[in-house]
Amino acid sequence: MNQVFNRKLRTDLDALRDAGTYKHLRHITTPMAATVHMAETGDAIVLSSNNYLGLADNPRVVEAGIEGLRHYGAGTASVRFICGTLDIHKRIEERIAQFLGTGNALTYVSCWAANTGLIPTIAVEGTAIVSDELNHASIIDGCRMATQAQRLRYKHADMADLEAKLANLAPDMTKFVITDGVFSMEGDLAKLPEIVALAKRYNAVTIVDDSHGTGVMGRTGRGTIEHFGLTGQIDIITGTLGKALGGAAGGFVAGSDDLVETLIQKSRPQLFSNALPATVACSALAAIDELDGHPELLTTLRDNIAYFRAGLKKLGYGPLEGDSAIIPIIVGETSFAIKMSDALLKEGVFVTGFGYPVVPEGTARIRVQMSAALERAHLDRALSAFERVGRTLTLIP
Ligand SMILES: Cc1ncc(COP(=O)(O)O)c(C=O)c1O
Repeated sequence: MNQVFNRKLRTDLDALRDAGTYKHLRHITTPMAATVHMAETGDAIVLSSNNYLGLADNPRVVEAGIEGLRHYGAGTASVRFICGTLDIHKRIEERIAQFLGTGNALTYVSCWAANTGLIPTIAVEGTAIVSDELNHASIIDGCRMATQAQRLRYKHADMADLEAKLANLAPDMTKFVITDGVFSMEGDLAKLPEIVALAKRYNAVTIVDDSHGTGVMGRTGRGTIEHFGLTGQIDIITGTLGKALGGAAGGFVAGSDDLVETLIQKSRPQLFSNALPATVACSALAAIDELDGHPELLTTLRDNIAYFRAGLKKLGYGPLEGDSAIIPIIVGETSFAIKMSDALLKEGVFVTGFGYPVVPEGTARIRVQMSAALERAHLDRALSAFERVGRTLTLIP
């Protein structure tokens, strides 16, 4: 290793440590569930995972993955268009399209790959892409890669600003409006009814990344689009299989046949990167079946969200309002958020503190995420820990 470069890396890392913003990886030795065991600190209640429906260790989801591994082997050792497409890819893609009410769908190894594979493929020269400023990093990077398109950012959830940006673009130009369905750091929902209305008025194509909405929002867990009664009215939906729908990995773009065909032909992760592993596709299929077959999972998740929000408020916390499974508590400085999450971990509660640059400076937060896997006793124990830690750190009275 080049010594000068290595010293530079170490200096940068020391600066993170000095600022109290260094991230420590926790080594979990058990499946993701209501509680996990961590090599460094022992058992903890998990309030930090995207395992919203508690399906990550669901026996049918696990068995389906094992069966997929047995049947299809470890992988195709190839990209999709060479010899990497299995019949299970077709099955999961048909299922996702049916689940979301789109014409078709295409899988990627992650939603990161889906967003960064989609955006530069369609936002080409002569087009414009208008993106909410708090969109997920994969959307931001996807937009950065669309170097030939006009790229515009509107203020978070500010429909007047979105309209002003759209109104300034030539009427006949192809325009994309892109937003998270549920914003991952705020837990709030995109104003999809207004976005759809504006898109109609200005003839724009709508793209919604519903990674945190799928399996959480909507009467049957179809996501934020179902929540607003807009099924069939969003042009392109992206999402992950790595959160509510099994939690392993995997992402997708859902839209028309022509869109999917275009991505198969041109999207760079499709052309130059391995296909979704069959085992993940099999587990995700089982996870969607579990969601459809067990609506009580959604009821439990929603009860847990309401119970924990109310419990936090009773203790004197002021979590950001919202309908999703993400409950952020703003604490200010990044080092404080990290200190608080460390203190909670000592109390047996695993919840992550997020600071700059993941969120704007001065708005560091503890991000609680609810799961249907959690039982009332877990929630009560976690609330007691929040009470003790909040008092010690004088965050609550
Ligand atoms: C809104 C959003 N989009 C995309 C991703 C990336 O998903 P994946 O882990 O499948 O790459 C995330 C993950 O945190 C996300 O929150």
